Amino acid sequence: MKLRLAILAILLACCSCAETEHKFTPYKIGVSQCADDMWRQITMIQMEAEITKHPDITLVSKIAKNNTQEQVKQIRELLDEGVNLLIVSPNELTESITDVTEEAYRKGIPTIIWDRKIESDAYSTFISADNYEIGTAVGKYISSNLAPGSTILEISGLESSSPARERHQGFIDVIEGKGYKVKSIDGNWIPDVAKARVEDITSYEDIDLVFGHNDDMAIAAYEVICKHSQKEADRIKFIGIDAIVGIDAVIDGRLDASFLYPPGGDFVVETAIKLLKGEPVEKNYVLKTSLIDASNAYTLKTQSEQMLEYQKHINTQKKELEDIRNNYNIMAHFLLILIVGCIILLSIVVMSLATTRKIMRKNSALLRKNEEVEQKTNDLLAQNIQIELLSNQKLQFFTNISHEIRTPLTLILNPLDKIEKAVKDPLIQKDVRTLRHNARHLLKIVNQLLDFRKIENNKKTLSVQETDLISFISEIVRYFETYAQSEKIVFSFNTDIKQLMLWIDRTKMEQVFINLISNAFKHSKKYGVITISVTEDDSKALVEVHDTGTGMDENTLQHIFDRFYSVGNTQNHGIGIGLHLSKEYAELHSGKLYAESQLGRFSSFYVEIPKGKEHLPEETVFVDTSMIEDAMPENDDAVKELLSRKYDDVVLIAEDDVDIRTYLHEELSENFNILVASNGYEATQLLLENNVSVVLSDVLMPHINGYQLCREVKSNIATSHIPVILLTALTDESQMVHGVAEGADEYIRKPFNINYIKIKIINLLEERKQLKEAFSREFNADKILDVEVKDIPCADDIFRDNLMDYMENNYENSEVGVDEISSALGLSRVHLYRKTKSSFGLSPTDLLRKFRLRKAALLLKQESGLTISEVAYMTGFSSPAYFTRCFKEMFGVPPTAYDK
Ligand code: FRU
Repeated sequence: MKLRLAILAILLACCSCAETEHKFTPYKIGVSQCADDMWRQITMIQMEAEITKHPDITLVSKIAKNNTQEQVKQIRELLDEGVNLLIVSPNELTESITDVTEEAYRKGIPTIIWDRKIESDAYSTFISADNYEIGTAVGKYISSNLAPGSTILEISGLESSSPARERHQGFIDVIEGKGYKVKSIDGNWIPDVAKARVEDITSYEDIDLVFGHNDDMAIAAYEVICKHSQKEADRIKFIGIDAIVGIDAVIDGRLDASFLYPPGGDFVVETAIKLLKGEPVEKNYVLKTSLIDASNAYTLKTQSEQMLEYQKHINTQKKELEDIRNNYNIMAHFLLILIVGCIILLSIVVMSLATTRKIMRKNSALLRKNEEVEQKTNDLLAQNIQIELLSNQKLQFFTNISHEIRTPLTLILNPLDKIEKAVKDPLIQKDVRTLRHNARHLLKIVNQLLDFRKIENNKKTLSVQETDLISFISEIVRYFETYAQSEKIVFSFNTDIKQLMLWIDRTKMEQVFINLISNAFKHSKKYGVITISVTEDDSKALVEVHDTGTGMDENTLQHIFDRFYSVGNTQNHGIGIGLHLSKEYAELHSGKLYAESQLGRFSSFYVEIPKGKEHLPEETVFVDTSMIEDAMPENDDAVKELLSRKYDDVVLIAEDDVDIRTYLHEELSENFNILVASNGYEATQLLLENNVSVVLSDVLMPHINGYQLCREVKSNIATSHIPVILLTALTDESQMVHGVAEGADEYIRKPFNINYIKIKIINLLEERKQLKEAFSREFNADKILDVEVKDIPCADDIFRDNLMDYMENNYENSEVGVDEISSALGLSRVHLYRKTKSSFGLSPTDLLRKFRLRKAALLLKQESGLTISEVAYMTGFSSPAYFTRCFKEMFGVPPTAYDK
């Protein structure tokens, strides 16, 4: 603020300096001339010459051209312009001119009346030669040069002007009584008027002398008479007044004499300066007059010409001086502007420096704040990581425990099978069955824990099939019927609905209902009631599992679906993941799981499942029901059709038993291309060398067993997309879980049904094919340009994500091609090709090109100002022409037409 005020002050100072510069012309003198003849032109020259001595004074003149009204108007204009002094040579001795000059004088403006008088003495000074005296001088001259009795033609000036009156009077006063005849005509001071009047005279014979009140009129008369008769003109004497133009005429003989009427322009200005300076002046100044005739005319002419020359010279010098002064002024202004400019510039620099400093200070404060925030974020991140680590450790702990539990369970279950077969006593048999039942239940919990981990990793996808919910639940209810009987629990399934078709993942929903029903049993006492009921509305099915058991208080009810939440002692309530997992499963179906309860009275769990399949997540796999193991009668037409299909895909069989291997080879060759390996190691080699679509492996093999092979396949990016089916003679469910934990896609028990294996393989291939097609369809469709490619489901999410990340970061670079992608992902060209072909149905080149084209299409949609070439280069195409061709191929229209 202060700085700005300072700048303002400087600028004002500069402006006032400029103002002072202008003050070299503070005084303005106004000159009002009544006419513009030679006498008055000389007056002006004299005035201008005189004024050059005073550079601080300007002269403004106005000429009324013998018009009194005009002169009054002009005097007013001069006064309005604010002249500091007025010089008036009045046209006439009239009231109007008298009034206006008097007014000026009374206002305090010094007023000089000059040459002709006004009717008042309200002026500062009057300057003129004595016109009466001139008149008498003319009279005297005539008396001594003209014989009495002669006739004189007097051509008078404007009779209402003072010089005309006074000249006439002086003249008459002298010649009166001397025997001259005087004829007077009015010439108005104007030669043309005089001329006309002289021409009007019929005869000049009796005229002996012409007396013009000024030379101009006398000469005009001479010319008229001369034109009439040279003789007459020579005879007649001509006398004028002024001795300005008259001098030449005296020299060349047109005039006999002239009387000097001095203009006195220089003296008038000199007096004006005195008045302006406040110096005293006389009320009247009388300028000297003299007779000019042939004897002195020449000398006077030379002198006055010299004077005139001198004055003209002065005026030219004055002009030059003015030019110099103007130049100086311009330069001074430039300099001033330059200085002001410099000051402004300097101020801006200072201000911007100050602002920069301020910004820097603010910046560093912001930086400090940023650092603090960053520090806090890092702390939070570290805490998060810590929490995640702990959480993972917990989960890992549970996973480890589940592995630990699985082994003893296997050891328990296997002997139990044997014991059950060996024992004959039905009572002991029953006990053994109970033992087996519980051991299996325990195994289920372990499986749930593994599933839970999967859910935590967001890897859970639904594998749905259209299912009749009524028969599905009836089936589950049946598992518990015997148990209900033994526990003396009234267990019933109520519904009015005959059939209710829903798209569900049977395995997961089975777990949900088993979990809810087992909980109901856990919390019910003898003679308690457990009721399962199914109702529906337009949009959903509602399953209620109701028990009249122990019930829950508010607090427990609020937390039962929390992860790891456990009610009371764990013996009664399980390990606390069942309900959480069930809820996750229900929600995976876009459904709901919620509960109502009253402590000591009842609990009700509700499962809502939406009807239809539109709500299901995109990555959901729809299982063709005709391919389900249970529904596989060989005479079924659909199954026959499936089994007759031929695939180009290669199935790798890894089996150490030569008979089984040969059998599998022969059988599967009918539908697929086959590669065989006798152990896991061989299989891994073949996998890398060939483009394998499915691996079918035994579990128990020398060197690398089936699980290890499965792990190898799934952990190598080159093969991780290949589905693995494990075959084993072990019937233990824990082995199956183990296989699934290693990433096996299917698990088939020996002895197997070869058609079942074929259908499983076909199923997998079809599933992959569908995924591939879906991916390539989605990838090509321009309607989903803004959909993240990463959201398109495919056979290998990790590979997809890595590849898409790489392309996202590098698509703009036209240098990036298949080689760069291969080395970035740690794959050979061949493996990359196989991988993208089998995962996305596209070669890496096609994939990259299409990815770029998707980006280009997006750019065209979003940024309309870009040219096609710009878009091409921005998306890594090195030739716009090639880009245009590819674009049209992919989207059906050229890029120019695309955004329209
Ligand atoms: C010029 C003039 C002179 C004369 C004077 C009288 O306008 O006519 O010739 O002497 O005025 O005022």
